[in-house]
Amino acid sequence: MQRDRVIQTAHVVANRRLCRDHYRLTFRLPMFPPARAGQFVHLSPERRLDDSPMESHDRWVSELDQPMLRRAFSIAGLRCTNTGVEVDVIYRVVGTATRWMESLRAGDPVSLLGPMGNSFPVSDRKPVAWLVAGGVGLPPMLWLAAALQETAKRVVAFCGAQTHDLLALTLDPTAQPDGSAKTATPSAKEFTKCGADVVISTDDGSLGFRGYVGSAMAAYHQANPVAADDLVVYTCGPEPMIRFVAEYCVARRIECYVCVERNMACGTGMCQSCVVPVRDTADSTGWSYRLCCTDGPIFEARNILWETPD
Ligand SMILES: Cc1cc2nc3c(=O)[nH]c(=O)nc-3n(C[C@H](O)[C@H](O)[C@H](O)COP(=O)(O)OP(=O)(O)OC[C@H]3O[C@@H](n4cnc5c(N)ncnc54)[C@H](O)[C@@H]3O)c2cc1C
Ligand code: FES
Repeated sequence: MQRDRVIQTAHVVANRRLCRDHYRLTFRLPMFPPARAGQFVHLSPERRLDDSPMESHDRWVSELDQPMLRRAFSIAGLRCTNTGVEVDVIYRVVGTATRWMESLRAGDPVSLLGPMGNSFPVSDRKPVAWLVAGGVGLPPMLWLAAALQETAKRVVAFCGAQTHDLLALTLDPTAQPDGSAKTATPSAKEFTKCGADVVISTDDGSLGFRGYVGSAMAAYHQANPVAADDLVVYTCGPEPMIRFVAEYCVARRIECYVCVERNMACGTGMCQSCVVPVRDTADSTGWSYRLCCTDGPIFEARNILWETPD
């Protein structure tokens, strides 16, 4: 279990819209423990100890617009500056917490707990790395691409969105994505600056490959064969998508790491609300539960059980 996490007040530096529903929120903190790609922060509104929702009717009503529980957000980037550390998260506005986040302005305080969870294993062993991201699975891949820059790997990022204006990337109009997904191009600035090429897919075909990002990865693989021993795959996104990628890799003996998302009440291993069933040869049943918040969120694909055994 990870213990070097801290809870502190972060201040918003910027909250910039990236596309129709996605924003990049940057916080400044006086310090932040060492962190690595794949880890996440747990955010909530800043509440003082003497805050009581029952103090006044007005406060009770206004607090109903804010999340009671913290929410997890993958770290999309982290920089040391003269005044401390800046942490980026990228979020899609879908509900209570992300609507509250959309309302944040520069200077606003936020309670931030982190860094949380484990990280993507990065080694020099394999010459090729594929990052496969769907929707809000993109943020951890941005930081991972930066980390992989320090290895000699050839990196391709497969980025999927429902439609073109839900893709939270800065596109290079001179490097049009290939609709067949047979070629990776330097088409998104966020990856190009890390030396990675990109394959873009949209479910509706409005940009790049028409279809799910897992199918784009499979089409690319068919056109660009790589030996399983030379390839490592990292994936994050909606469960059907990460399951497809994980099963594709396991069937071909490709090393694959999956960032799993679960609703997390505490984020610290106490409430047991975020279980993930995994293979476990030490258990007589052959499987057991792990906690997404402290054992994960990164799991090796071959260990995950996508259905809980009876
Ligand atoms: C380890 C981890 C990392 C995460 N990283 C990110 C991240 O980098 N960026 C990010 O935006 N979120 C991320 N999440 C999800 C995030 O924690 C919140 O659950 C999510 O943003 C919704 O919070 P909310 O309060 O706005 O919505 P809620 O009020 O909790 O949900 C409102 C409705 O939206 C649905 N919903 C929830 N999430 C999504 C979604 N992504 N797309 C469509 N519908 C959805 C819910 O099922 C519900 O019906 C991560 C979760 C985990 C566990
Ligand atoms: S969120 Fe409470 S144990 Fe994981």
